[in-house]
Order: sequence, then C-alpha cells, then structure tokens
Amino acid sequence: MEHVFLLALVIAFWEASPVVTGTSTVSINVLNYLRGDLNLTVHCKSQDGDLGVHVLPVYGRYQLYTNVIKSALFSCDLSMRDGTIVYDLYRYERDHIRCPTQCIWDVKTEGLVGLSEDAAQSEIFVNWRRRAN
Ligand SMILES: *[C@@H]1O[C@H](CO)[C@@H](O)[C@H](O)[C@H]1NC(C)=O
Repeated sequence: MEHVFLLALVIAFWEASPVVTGTSTVSINVLNYLRGDLNLTVHCKSQDGDLGVHVLPVYGRYQLYTNVIKSALFSCDLSMRDGTIVYDLYRYERDHIRCPTQCIWDVKTEGLVGLSEDAAQSEIFVNWRRRAN
C-alpha cells in the first residue's frame, strides 16, 4: 500500500514538472542599459512571424514568451544610434538548458550580454557593428 502511494506521488510530481511535459514557457527579456539616454530599437521575428518594431527607453524592458519547443526561435535586430546587432535571442538547442525559464539580454554600450540561469555556463557576448560615419 505504501508503495502504491509513493508511486502515485512520483507520478504526480512527474506530471507537474514542466520540463517533462515539454509545455513549459520561457521568457526572453531585452533590457536597455545603454549609456547616454539612448533609445534601443528591437525588431524580432519568431518561427511564427514578424513581431514588429519596439522602441525601448533607457531601463526599458521588452519581453517575449515562447513554449520551450524545438522550433522555438527569436531572430532579432537591435539598433541604437551608434550601431546594430543581428542575433538570435532564443534558439532551442542553445538555450533550453542555458536559460530554461528566463533568458536575460542586457544591452550595453559595450555590446549585448546574454545571461545564463545555469551558473556553470558562461555569458554570451556580442559586439556592436558600428555604423559607418
Ligand atoms: C526615444 O523614444 C521616444 C519615444 O519613441 C521619443 O519620444 C524620444 O524622442 C526618443 N529619444 C531619442 C534620444 O531619440
């Protein structure tokens, strides 16, 4: 009897675990930490289409959500006064372990910094492509 109860408990937790069911969601967050009060323009496309252009003031946050599924992809153009970055802000293969619930992208004057929820994994750093003068 005790074993049946334990088994039921194990199954209950198994069912409750979002990683196991494959239907968990992850948030992708873009934060504007540019110096000099510069707006950041973010334009992302997902596997399902164009998500439009968003202008973020300094300290503003742009948040996207997706189900953690193999086709999940956010391909984004970041643009500020002095430069641009084109980068995938979410790719299932790279990110489902690196940031299972929350992917944070700090946009800094030095470049784009991708934080990891897994302390064992290093940050991602992407340089600005400077605008030609
Ligand atoms: C930043 O964006 C806001 C809202 O779109 C706009 O009013 C403001 O003029 C912009 N600032 C700069 C420095 O471009």
